[in-house]
Amino acid sequence: MKDPDANANPPVDGSELIRFEKVTKRFGSNTVLDNLDFAVDSGKHVTLIGPSGSGKTTILRLLMTLTKPDEGTITVDGEKLFPAPEKQVREVRKNIGMVFQQFNLFPNMSALRNITEAPVTVLGLSKDEAEERARGLLDLVGLADKADARPTQLSGGQQQRVAIARALAMRPQVLLLDEVTSALDPELVAGVLDVLRDIARTTDITMLCVTHEMNFARDISDQVLMFDSGRVIESGPPEKIFSDPEQDRTREFLSAVL
Ligand SMILES: Nc1ncnc2c1ncn2[C@@H]1O[C@H](COP(=O)(O)OP(=O)(O)OP(=O)(O)O)[C@@H](O)[C@H]1O
Ligand SMILES: [Mg+2]
Repeated sequence: MKDPDANANPPVDGSELIRFEKVTKRFGSNTVLDNLDFAVDSGKHVTLIGPSGSGKTTILRLLMTLTKPDEGTITVDGEKLFPAPEKQVREVRKNIGMVFQQFNLFPNMSALRNITEAPVTVLGLSKDEAEERARGLLDLVGLADKADARPTQLSGGQQQRVAIARALAMRPQVLLLDEVTSALDPELVAGVLDVLRDIARTTDITMLCVTHEMNFARDISDQVLMFDSGRVIESGPPEKIFSDPEQDRTREFLSAVL
């Protein structure tokens, strides 16, 4: 563990990609994140587990700047994401991609266009460059033949694989995954998890992942963080957390989900 008193001037050692320092987030009188400190090193795959309402999605939404903390600082690759001027936020945000539980594809666009849209409008790629990148990614997620399909013509699992390709098209340093298989029919889950395993194995992207798929978490994670009431109550490698947790709360949670 890092020295909790060393927060005033955190070292940027080049390997640390994400850092939350004393982050507090409240909704009304509900303190969802309570003085939260944690860091993720570049290239690592970190899984967040914990009971419903423990603040897992809120952490990912803070990184996507879909919501703001009440207190504390969030740093990505040595640059402040919060607090920071709007222009800096936009730059830092480009390093972060997210895939949601509900795939949120643009319904009126083909799979290909869903993937090329942001690289063209946000990164300024030419249409040809963006399409080349998008076709490579469709191939990676096993959908090379679905470039022209609309979301309604795709299964849930296929839509989610397009959503993964869309996030990767921005070449983010960090991929945030929030229960990306929990809206899928059971027979479609494995295909999506296989794609994510592949990405974890073959790229150097940093992953921050919320999942109830404990076998998947065990396979891909370098580190598991157990949340309860807006704090990390336990963290460690998956073999330790899943097989021999220190905290009763972790044990209870795991016996309920496993
Ligand atoms: N927009 C919002 N307005 C008010 N309260 C919110 C809002 N978003 C989240 N909350 C509250 O914050 C707490 C944490 O929510 P969050 O979605 O981060 O939990 P979670 O750990 O992702 O839970 P789950 O496993 O059910 O997805 C909950 O008590 C929730 O009701
Ligand atoms: Mg959630």
